[in-house]
This record gives sequence, structure tokens and C-alpha cells, in this order.
Amino acid sequence: MKIFLDTADIEQIRQAKALGAIEGVTTNPSLLAKEPGDWKKIVRQICKEIDGPVSVEVLALDPPAMLAEARDLVKIAPNIVIKVPVTLEGLKTIKELHNRGIETNATLVFSANQALLAAKAGATYVSPFIGRLDDVGQDGLQLIQDLMTIFRNYDLSTQVLAASIRSCSHFHQAALLGADAITIPLSVLLDLVRHPLTDSGLAKFLADWAKK
Ligand code: G3P
Repeated sequence: MKIFLDTADIEQIRQAKALGAIEGVTTNPSLLAKEPGDWKKIVRQICKEIDGPVSVEVLALDPPAMLAEARDLVKIAPNIVIKVPVTLEGLKTIKELHNRGIETNATLVFSANQALLAAKAGATYVSPFIGRLDDVGQDGLQLIQDLMTIFRNYDLSTQVLAASIRSCSHFHQAALLGADAITIPLSVLLDLVRHPLTDSGLAKFLADWAKK
């Protein structure tokens, strides 16, 4: 499972990169809006920091304008992946970008049917939003399981990128289900490392050594 960081904060990206676990970054308009300064400069900086895919979302709602934004975005760096919401217009845009050899991340996916259509349109990744489904009383992880089965049934090459991850349990379950990739906030990445038995074990080792 590839691990991406879900942020536009360059300091967080550097912190996660130092741990050696991060293979890409995903942003969205809300995350980029939080960062002060010119968003294009921020995106350029992220793309320099990370060798892997960096997802950046288009803001336009109609295909010609989405394509124009995508054309501008891919000029920023070769590792840009164009994030496109799964709407009727978004699917047309994904198909056009696929025809032009541009990688896409179909976002705001809340059903297996949306993901299947995005895969048919040629999306490189589909991003099911696990946490937001849980928030409305549905089972986000069930969607990951369904997608893994459906994509395997039809030998689809689109990668399932588990998104809207809120906990270590989401991470663990997504890995068990075989998600191709996952994008997590820094807080979850740091929580993945922590274990109380590691802390107490280390304290005991050091205390025993001090008695020597
Ligand atoms: O970047 C998409 C997704 O990961 C957003 O997560 O926590 O805002 O639902 P969240």
C-alpha cells in the first residue's frame, strides 16, 4: 500500500518525509486555502519536496475550463496528478485527460458505482472518502472492500486510494483490504508509530541499564 500525506503544509510534508514512509501527497482546495501565500508556489514547492504523485484539484465545473486548468497545472511539475470530482462533467474531463496521457485522481467518491465509472473513464486513482461516509452513518471501509472486489472482477488497473482517513483503525483495515494507496493526515501518521508498550518497554530498558 502506497502511503500519501493529505496536506498542503510544506513543514508537515518535510516532517513526514523524514520518517521515510511518504510516497506522495494529496491536496484539495480546502487544504490549499489554509496555507498562506501563492498556491502555485506552494504546489511547486511540494512537487520539489516529493518525488511521487502530488494531487491537485481543478476548481472549474465544466469540462473545457477543467481541461484548461489541468493543462496549466501539469506545467508546474511532471509529478502532478489532476484531481477531478466525480460529476458528469468530471467524468468527461477524466476521459479527455486520460486520452492525453495525463494522470487523474477521481475525488469525492462515495459509491462503488461512481468509482467504476471513473475507472472506465480512465482515472489513474479513485479516492473513496471513508471518514465522511462514517460521519453520515455509513460504512466507509465497506466501500473499500467493494471496490477491491469490483476492480479485481474486471481486472481494472485504476488504483484505489483510501481517503478521508481519520484513525489508525482506518489505516489498518484499508491495508488488510488491499487498498492500493492511502492518504493520511500527519496526525494519523504520528499515531501509527505510537504504542504504549513501546514507551513502557523503552523506559524499563533504560531504567534497568541505569542500575548496572
Ligand atoms: O483529500 C481528501 C480527503 O482525504 C479529505 O479528508 O478528513 O476532510 O474528510 P477529510
